[in-house]
Amino acid sequence: MSGEGLVRVAGANSALAGVLAEQAGFNAVWASSLEISAMRCLPDASILGMSEYLRAAADMQKALRVPVVADCDTGFGNNLNVAHMIMEYEDAGITAVCVEDKTYPKMNSFAGTDHSLLSTREFAGKIAVAKSQQRSDMFLIARTEALIAGGTVDEALRRCRAYADAGADAVLVHSKKPTNDQIVEFLGRWDVDLPVVIVPTTYHAWDAEDAYKLGASVIIYANHGLRTMISSLRATYAEILAAGQTTGLEDRIASVSEIFALQRLDEWQRLQP
Ligand code: SPV
Ligand code: MG
Repeated sequence: MSGEGLVRVAGANSALAGVLAEQAGFNAVWASSLEISAMRCLPDASILGMSEYLRAAADMQKALRVPVVADCDTGFGNNLNVAHMIMEYEDAGITAVCVEDKTYPKMNSFAGTDHSLLSTREFAGKIAVAKSQQRSDMFLIARTEALIAGGTVDEALRRCRAYADAGADAVLVHSKKPTNDQIVEFLGRWDVDLPVVIVPTTYHAWDAEDAYKLGASVIIYANHGLRTMISSLRATYAEILAAGQTTGLEDRIASVSEIFALQRLDEWQRLQP
């Protein structure tokens, strides 16, 4: 964020996924509400509570050197909930959190439903409360769902300017269009000296460096780890049953020693010689 190029962030649902993202070279890990709830086979719809999301994010942070950016949905309720959330996440050593301007309970941005938003004034108030509660240099990303809710780029800009005025450290503008035109327009018209975070899930045919040149500071690949996991597990389980043995798989899947390395088993074993 300090101006040394694009910050690349990978979505994760566990410490293991986070470590793999860190090893691949990502600058940070997104503790995604979609991924974390999907790991329980539950919708990303404010069903899990703050403690459960916090536990998942904290488990990741404990295993990582790079920061976790915690997806905190709406802040898990109203201004009181967001104040509590900031205290709890700070205490758990999470240094970056993201809250969005949907109403609580929220529904995942890609789900086919109406997405209702708080008023700009109400969400700016939530941002101000969050910033007033923090005791460290916690980084707060204010996310607008204006485009997800069918609003215009004008509205997204107006909201993000208000969130910046309320003290946000960065803004995230989300879009579900298959093309990047809304985001390109937003970046071209963003005139506030705060970083912009983008999540190119649907408008994926866009080189990260090109997005950076147009003004994006942070890019989050929010769910590609989870989607890879689903495809890989499905293929592996099917192949085992179809083949009646695992020999054909052995060269394509991680070895048990790779698991031990990710667990840092040798360091643990040295504790009890
Ligand atoms: C998440 O990964 O949980 C996000 C991004 O918030 S999205 O699923 O696109 O809403
Ligand atoms: Mg989310």
